[in-house]
Amino acid sequence: MKKRIGVLLSGRGSNFEALANSVAAGRIPHAEIAIVVSNREGAPGIQRAEARGIKTRVIPSKGLEREVYDRQVAAVLDEHKVDLICLAGYMRLLSPFFVAKYPNRILNIHPSLLPSFPGLESQRQALEYGVKFAGCTVHFVDENLDAGPIILQATVPVLAQDTEASLSEKILKEEHRIYSEAVKIVLEGKYKIAGRRVLLTS
Ligand code: GRF
Repeated sequence: MKKRIGVLLSGRGSNFEALANSVAAGRIPHAEIAIVVSNREGAPGIQRAEARGIKTRVIPSKGLEREVYDRQVAAVLDEHKVDLICLAGYMRLLSPFFVAKYPNRILNIHPSLLPSFPGLESQRQALEYGVKFAGCTVHFVDENLDAGPIILQATVPVLAQDTEASLSEKILKEEHRIYSEAVKIVLEGKYKIAGRRVLLTS
């Protein structure tokens, strides 16, 4: 039986597309993207999913209390029997209800070397801080922002001529690579969690 992935997104959807490409190419074997959910109408990621013939659902979040909203999302994910939930540019904090319902089954990609620069505009924060290496992180999700045990990270050098745009582009390339790798590791169960440490096993 194929493992079923649910993707939650709010925007562009390039990480979703990278995952979909990896599934299609067999880099994430025995898996399928069962549903893509967006909290924003008109999210380009939804159009990308539709263009690939992947099921989509838009559930507008505006004005809804966090848990009320998350219960609607969970109902859709359960309806599609997802095994793993991938946040891919999903601009919402999850409720304790949602996090508790899917223990170690929610992943996120963040464009910094966590725990540095959580939150928004991480690439600009990194540039302004003056770090010499930036990067990205795939981690399990808990109810705190950009927290949770780290599965994989990748670094990129920050060069003198880098701008926010050029740095973001370099990081994004690594995001696309390590998100698929992390999803494969988790779906194949090739890890152990010891405290905050995710130990990769073979
Ligand atoms: C990515 O940089 C991701 O790390 C962050 O939000 C951005 C989403 O980009 N969480 P996309 O929608 O996947 O293109």
